[in-house]
Amino acid sequence: MRAVPYLCAMEPLTLYVHWPFCLAKCPYCDFNSHVRDRIPQDSFRAALRTELAWEATRLGRRPLTSIFFGGGTPSLMDPETVAALIDDAGRWFDPVPGLEITLEANPTSVEAAWLAAFRAAVNRLSLGVQSLDADALRWLGRAHSAAQARAALEIARATFPRVSFDLIYARPGQSLPGWRAELRAALALAADHLSLYQLTIEPGTAFATRHARGEIVLPDEDTAAALYEATGEEAARFGLLGYEVSNYARPGAESRHNLSYWRYGDYAGIGPGAHGRITLGPDLVATRRHRAPEAWAGLVARDGHGTVEQTALPAVEKAREMLLMGLRLTEGIDAARFAARTGVELEDAIDADVLRQAEVEGYLRFAEGRLAALPAGRLRLDALLAALVR
Ligand SMILES: C[S@@+](CC[C@H](N)C(=O)[O-])C[C@H]1O[C@@H](n2cnc3c(N)ncnc32)[C@H](O)[C@@H]1O
Ligand code: SF4
Repeated sequence: MRAVPYLCAMEPLTLYVHWPFCLAKCPYCDFNSHVRDRIPQDSFRAALRTELAWEATRLGRRPLTSIFFGGGTPSLMDPETVAALIDDAGRWFDPVPGLEITLEANPTSVEAAWLAAFRAAVNRLSLGVQSLDADALRWLGRAHSAAQARAALEIARATFPRVSFDLIYARPGQSLPGWRAELRAALALAADHLSLYQLTIEPGTAFATRHARGEIVLPDEDTAAALYEATGEEAARFGLLGYEVSNYARPGAESRHNLSYWRYGDYAGIGPGAHGRITLGPDLVATRRHRAPEAWAGLVARDGHGTVEQTALPAVEKAREMLLMGLRLTEGIDAARFAARTGVELEDAIDADVLRQAEVEGYLRFAEGRLAALPAGRLRLDALLAALVR
């Protein structure tokens, strides 16, 4: 592998804040989310601010392009905590004009007055609608009805300049016409951005147990592929283009925060279980915080941060990660940025024979300094990456 110089000059930063609490645990979800009788708002506000200060001190002043409050259910945070963290970030870093600030919200915690309290600080809301079908919502174990989801969406659109929502499809027994109809109804309510996820069975979830017992049978590969193709067609009819495997937006309304992940930008992650990738001196460093909320808060009280893992990534690992992230994007990977960011030439990080074959089969395109997965390739991205990445 040819080594190229690793350029670490002032990569802009995005900030991820993890809020680990939910009102109930959904049976399909393996995110780091926990249910508590009483959410410790004050101590978690203090701990998050402490960890941000600790991280910012070693990062130094950098351009800040976005902040994302994810979860769990960040709409359960005290709006005051959200505002305090945004203020802190503004003091530690140099926010770019029009800084994107996203908050994930759950329709059950969305009520007009509560949501409005976030408006002063947040300019993008991402709402977990999951489905607009009453039976599907019940089956997914959601605590809200379709009517509540629609109402939450209306409030969100009246309150925030930018709104996205999530749906889960490729559910057991879901028909193509059924999904097209559900998606059309959702698109009529949209928002300039939608995240449309195929249901996956995650280890350790209640669904994983039921799946192992044969009580949940997912659509077969052909059906899942047909559902995926229909998803792109329906979204495009409403002017939302697929810019990532599961994300659709009106041009210009893409999530800047998530785009930065997929382009392998720097992100600082604070809060329980948060991951980060930050440039420190000559290294790109992977960080991970303790997953358990109370243990994380204990570490922050003792040390100022809850980091449990911190590794300077070797060039080959950076190359692998950037391929895995970048091929999810319709725009693909810029070869010059790849070399600058990973220290490895793109041609050296992939198997030339697999690339040639994938180009012939219409899965990949490598031209004009960009490597991108074509629609047929995005459908089978995991298998493609397994063969392609050296
Ligand atoms: C961290 S969750 C946050 C949303 C918020 N807590 C809620 O549930 O409304 C992000 C999104 O991931 C998606 N998701 C979670 N588990 C999934 C799974 N097993 N399969 C497909 N999508 C999943 C859901 O659409 C969810 O809205
Ligand atoms: S899907 Fe959302 S509300 Fe449900 S457990 Fe996961 S993070 Fe919490």
